[in-house]
Amino acid sequence: MSKHNVSRRQFLSYTLTGVGGFMAAGMLMPMVRFAVDPVLKAGAGSDYIATKQKVSEITAEPKRVDFTFEQVDAWYKSEVTGSAWVYKDDNGKIVALSPVCKHLGCTVDWNTDKSNPNQFFCPCHYGRYTKDGMNVEGTPPIAPLDMYDFKEKDGFLHLGPIKPHKGA
Ligand code: FES
Repeated sequence: MSKHNVSRRQFLSYTLTGVGGFMAAGMLMPMVRFAVDPVLKAGAGSDYIATKQKVSEITAEPKRVDFTFEQVDAWYKSEVTGSAWVYKDDNGKIVALSPVCKHLGCTVDWNTDKSNPNQFFCPCHYGRYTKDGMNVEGTPPIAPLDMYDFKEKDGFLHLGPIKPHKGA
């Protein structure tokens, strides 16, 4: 059996190198992940989520379409729910609006303010939007509702990334 003598200086040197390396790895890993993450997620923004809404059943009356999808954050998986207000405009073109109020983020509802019918209404601070999602002047929101990208697949509505409203 061989006998190794490690001097106090060597022991301290090995220990400090090991601890220093461990700490450096702990600091560098999040930085590397931060730099690489957008590349790994490059395709994520273009994903479309299937809804149970048949395109043929979309009418001129805005309807709330709910959807769920699985979100993976590192090792944590969660089920996320969302919704969109969907209808067909006068030209038969589908409009999919985000329900998130542009004032402070409450959820807008359709046609629930009796004194201002056929508008989107935010009960938090009485924000209002016309049917096309434009904010009504004189109410708290200062921007129109965001819009979903969408596509039709196998007869069903698929919702994509949210984008700023195209304007009136
Ligand atoms: S959050 Fe909608 S009006 Fe304030």
